[in-house]
Amino acid sequence: MTAREKCAKYGQEHLLRYEAELTPEERAELERQILEADFDLIGEIKKKEATAPDFSGLSPLGALEVPEIRAREAEFRAAGIEAIRQGKVAALLLGGGQGTRLGFDGPKGTFDFGVTRPFYIFQAQIETMLRVCEEAGCFFPLFIMTSDKNDVATRAFLKEKNYFGFPEEKITFFRQAMAPSCDFDGKIYLEGKGQLSLSPNGNGGWFKSLVHHGLDQKIREMGVEWINVFAVDNVLQKICDPVFIGATVLSGTNCGAKVVRKNAPGEKVGALCLKDGLPTIVEYYEMGDDIASLRDENGELTYRFGVILNYLFRVSRMQEVVNGKLPLHIVKKKIPYLNEAGELVKPTTENGFKFEYLATDNVRDMLSCVPFEVEREHEFAPIKNPEGIDSVVSARELMRKNGFVL
Ligand code: UTP
Repeated sequence: MTAREKCAKYGQEHLLRYEAELTPEERAELERQILEADFDLIGEIKKKEATAPDFSGLSPLGALEVPEIRAREAEFRAAGIEAIRQGKVAALLLGGGQGTRLGFDGPKGTFDFGVTRPFYIFQAQIETMLRVCEEAGCFFPLFIMTSDKNDVATRAFLKEKNYFGFPEEKITFFRQAMAPSCDFDGKIYLEGKGQLSLSPNGNGGWFKSLVHHGLDQKIREMGVEWINVFAVDNVLQKICDPVFIGATVLSGTNCGAKVVRKNAPGEKVGALCLKDGLPTIVEYYEMGDDIASLRDENGELTYRFGVILNYLFRVSRMQEVVNGKLPLHIVKKKIPYLNEAGELVKPTTENGFKFEYLATDNVRDMLSCVPFEVEREHEFAPIKNPEGIDSVVSARELMRKNGFVL
């Protein structure tokens, strides 16, 4: 199928509106984007509108709580260190996001949140990993997922900083897939005359993207059995935490999820529950107030454990489900676009949809999961906003309380 035929099939002919003004190279690039982009996503908008969220079959999923973890720490730690030494564990940094809330013009990991010295988000994460490497006496592989929007800048920054001491040969970068953005009528936006409006397709596509780049085979050849997937922006989290790894491995489940005790029913974290007997994360905006506020006989929130985007996934199970369909999240966003006059407009209100897969949905595919409670004041300081909740300001304060000099 040619790009023109594909556009005709999906009612997206307007994407070729400026074709005559493009150089041969620009035209070839536009055609490549049209042929590669998944236009079937657009058809999902109508299906989604027709289905309301369903919360039947929901029940709480008990966690490994802090007192039990403390009591068994030595056992868990020894099992985790052993798994790392045997090369069974890899880390995977989700760095493909656009960090729009932070409003920083660059990959989020390159953001400097130091006060008296430069201290970059990537540096905080890598220094945390190096402490585990020191304890284990070896390095583990580190995969870094980028997107088309930030790949070059991410690689250049880390190279310039000499990977903050992590061995270059242990690091593998890969790009996640992109998805088109469209207006409320399902017409894909152009961002330039020869450029579709494309954005990273959410953090849930990480394993599919690994497979796309042939890296799943590399992982198997390396003997990696577990992947610790984590968000770039929680600067206080532990990565490849031996205690967490050991607890998950010994639990016999396919997945471990770090969770915090929610500080209020409406806290903006996804709640880890059971739905129809399977581990499921219900996003805060999907769970109604009535369910979020339910309390058990001890007066505690029934759905009290929120995920912090730090998971340990069993590779063999990921491999089994890679061709399955993850739920698609259709999100209203402000999307820059070319108007009728061919000028770029940056809207101030939502003007269309983006399409995303979420890592939270990977958990359900794992069939079994052990929620592992961590203390938020020691392990949860996400940098999402410049100030206020989950911000540069709140993260700095928490880092200081944990003895970091910023
Ligand atoms: P967020 O959901 O906070 O999104 O990402 P974001 O794009 O970083 O920030 P906002 O919402 O635009 O302000 C959580 C983690 O998932 C990664 C991010 O890099 C972050 O580590 N992510 C997100 C991806 O790797 N790819 C994506 O497509 C989206």
